[in-house]
Amino acid sequence: MDKRPIGIFDSGVGGTSIWKEIHKLLPRENTIYLADSKNAPYGSKSAKDILRLSIKNTELLLRKECKLIVVACNTATTNAIDHLRNTYDVPFIGIEPAIKPAALGSKSKTVGVLATKGTLSSQLFHSTSENHAHGISVVEQEGVGLVPLIEEGKAVSPETEALLTQYLEPMLNADIDHLVLGCTHYPYLIPVLRKLLPEHVKIIDSGEAVARQTKAVLDKNEALNDALENGKGTFYTNADLTVLQSFLWDVKTAVKVSYLDF
Ligand code: DGL
Repeated sequence: MDKRPIGIFDSGVGGTSIWKEIHKLLPRENTIYLADSKNAPYGSKSAKDILRLSIKNTELLLRKECKLIVVACNTATTNAIDHLRNTYDVPFIGIEPAIKPAALGSKSKTVGVLATKGTLSSQLFHSTSENHAHGISVVEQEGVGLVPLIEEGKAVSPETEALLTQYLEPMLNADIDHLVLGCTHYPYLIPVLRKLLPEHVKIIDSGEAVARQTKAVLDKNEALNDALENGKGTFYTNADLTVLQSFLWDVKTAVKVSYLDF
C-alpha cells in the first residue's frame, strides 16, 4: 500500500481527459496534475524544448514525492519518455496515438491520425506506425491551431469546426474508417468531430488504455493505495485558473485547483 500521489503532466488542460480515466479506474489514488499552459502548445516546439519542459515538469512532480508519473501528452511522450525513463527512478506511463487498434479494426485499410507536429515528426511515432500499420494506409494530419483554441476554452466553437472541416477533408477523401486522436486535448473536440464525421468512422483515443496500464504497473509494484476513502485530486496551473477549472466541471469528487509558478 502506497499513499504517495500519482503525478500527471501535460502541456495544458488536455491531460485532464487522461486524469478522468485514471480517477474513474483508481478513485482511491491521490493525484497531482500539472497543466503547463504557460508553455502550451508543445506541439510546435523543437524536440529539445519539449524535452526541457518535460524534465522541468517531472522534477517538480518528483519533489512532490510522486510514486509514478503519467506523461499525459503525446507530444511529450514521443519526444521525451525514453530520456525520462533512463534518468529517473520511478515508473513512467506514456501516451501515443493508438494506431494498433485502429489498424486492426479498419475495413477500408485506411486510418486517419490527427496529432501535433511534434508527435507526427517524432521517431517513436514513426516506429510505432511502421510496426502496427502493415498494409494499412495512414493519413496523417497536423492539428495546427487546435490546442490554443482548446486552451482558450473554445473546444466547441465555430473556429474549431472550421479548422476540423479543413483537416478532415483529405482523410475522408481517402476513405478512412477510423480516426485516431493523437493528442490528449482532442477528446474535448469529440462533439464537433461527431458532427463532422460520417457515422461509420470510429474515433479512437488512448485514455482508457493509459488508465489500465497505470493500474497494472502500480499493482505489479505493490504500490496501489488501498485506503477506503477517495483520493485527493490536486491540480496546478501556471496560467488561467478558471480555464483549468472549466475542464473539471463534470468531476464529482472534490478537487483543489491552484495557481503555481513553474
Ligand atoms: N496534449 C498534448 C498532446 O497530447 C498537446 C500538445 C501541445 O501542447 O501542442 O500532444
